[in-house]
Amino acid sequence: MSETSASAVADPNTHAATADGTTAGAPGGVRRRDFIDIAALSAAGVGGLAVLYPLISQMAPSEDVLAESTTDVDVSAIEPGQAIKSVFRKQPLFIRRLTDAEIAEANSVPLSALRDPETLSDRTLEGHLSLLVTMGVCTHLGCVPLGVTEGENRGEFGGYFCPCHGSHYDVAGRIRKGPAPTNLVVPEYTFNTDTVIRVG
Ligand code: FES
Repeated sequence: MSETSASAVADPNTHAATADGTTAGAPGGVRRRDFIDIAALSAAGVGGLAVLYPLISQMAPSEDVLAESTTDVDVSAIEPGQAIKSVFRKQPLFIRRLTDAEIAEANSVPLSALRDPETLSDRTLEGHLSLLVTMGVCTHLGCVPLGVTEGENRGEFGGYFCPCHGSHYDVAGRIRKGPAPTNLVVPEYTFNTDTVIRVG
């Protein structure tokens, strides 16, 4: 028995239809069967959304997580030549105030001498050339470089030194020697106030 003939016998809606397959009196000639199909699909759509909503709302970051996603740091106490270590998204964050001599040194390096060419201006906020904010994560294999705490080895270029495999970063956090492929990462940040930066 063909599918068409089976439908004609088994489907009571077909018996209620007029000769041209429409429901008698239905505006626009919509077949009752079509109407039931559309209604069923609409119900499934609403049901699907009802199921998805709690899932999506559970997946949305909580306020705690959103708060954790930014870090505010008061940089007012960092003297020229000093650096501090903070934490941003569970990773070390280095914030360093460069001396005038360090700024001059960073600006004297030709980009052609750099493995990952960036100027100090590229790596700092406009008007804040002396404040260098970078992740404290070596771009080779993720060790935490030395050079924040006074007396630590700052490497051959006076910035940061990663002892794991010997990567040397300069005063602008740019890779100058060793296996690290790129400069220390500068995260997104802005000045919240004159003295507080918001990272993230
Ligand atoms: S992880 Fe820093 S040099 Fe290898």
